[in-house]
Amino acid sequence: MRVLVTGGAGFIGSHLADRLIARGDEVIVIDNLETGIAGNLPDTASLQFYRASIADRDVVRSVAESHRPTVCVHAAATYKDPEDWSGATRTNVLGTHNVVQAAAECGCRRLIYLQTSLCYGPSPAALPIPLDARLDPRGAYAATKTIGEELVRLFSRQWMSLRLANIYGPRSLSGPVPNFYVRIKAGQKVYVADTRRDFVFIDDLVELLEMAVDSREVGLYHASSGYDIGIGELYETVADELGAEPTGTIVPRDTEDVAALRLDPEKTRRTFDWHPSTPLGEGVHAAIQYYSAHDVQTVYSHLTRPYWSTGAD
Ligand SMILES: NC(=O)c1ccc[n+]([C@@H]2O[C@H](COP(=O)([O-])OP(=O)(O)OC[C@H]3O[C@@H](n4cnc5c(N)ncnc54)[C@H](O)[C@@H]3O)[C@@H](O)[C@H]2O)c1
Repeated sequence: MRVLVTGGAGFIGSHLADRLIARGDEVIVIDNLETGIAGNLPDTASLQFYRASIADRDVVRSVAESHRPTVCVHAAATYKDPEDWSGATRTNVLGTHNVVQAAAECGCRRLIYLQTSLCYGPSPAALPIPLDARLDPRGAYAATKTIGEELVRLFSRQWMSLRLANIYGPRSLSGPVPNFYVRIKAGQKVYVADTRRDFVFIDDLVELLEMAVDSREVGLYHASSGYDIGIGELYETVADELGAEPTGTIVPRDTEDVAALRLDPEKTRRTFDWHPSTPLGEGVHAAIQYYSAHDVQTVYSHLTRPYWSTGAD
């Protein structure tokens, strides 16, 4: 199979590329390295890497035309500046439109989109959140990703949108685990908001993505554990892994921040018989090993007021 992975030099995209190459697929990556790293990609003839932006329609078209992928996994997205609405619109809306159109034009059979669970907004009516819950995205990242999902739905014949829980693991440079790591290592104060999230380890997600690539299922799916844990518990797990005292201060959550995120995985379980199985401690251990080995210091967040820092320091 030939698979186009946009954002393939990033966290999720590169793990998927590894998995597909290991089973004999050909992988084509378009990535502008905004938050991705070329070194995440294996050096093999089975992978073609184009350093380019998906906002460039001609490049996306020409890559799709010359490789004619069977499946496209659209993982490219921008989020690192939560206030940059035009940048977010360029990549997450215009870029998604380019990818969806190019995939359709070159005869790509299937397109898989990775959506954020922030699409449900700060006050979901029920927990676990059902797939048909009302959408209420706030902020540039969530809003533009939600428009992107609509474009996928409108313009792709065989499409799947996986709405993801918090994915964590080696190579992830966003979210609470790398941010706690960097702040603890730098001796910075850590603030821990009183919120709960649904976490899935990257290997478990890649197992589902591989099945999604191969299947003919269409529609919306949650990629989630169905359980939520406190961010405080996650912080303690990271601190413990680093042999540090968990001296972080618990603070009330931001009003725009959802109190608890837990996505209903029932349809995904039923369809794919998929159950994320990596225990939190094991997953955090693997992530911290990666951050230490690569001396990770640059990390990102799509949140205006992240839950590990008040933003004041
Ligand atoms: N990690 C999570 O918990 C999570 C949760 C929900 C949704 N997602 C979605 O999963 C996808 C992958 O996220 P990730 O966690 O691997 O983040 P990531 O930052 O590691 O990957 C995104 C990749 O897109 C690339 N990119 C950004 N703008 C681009 C552009 N204009 N053209 C080409 N490439 C561009 C980046 O360089 C990066 O390699 C994204 O679409 C994201 O919205 C991730």
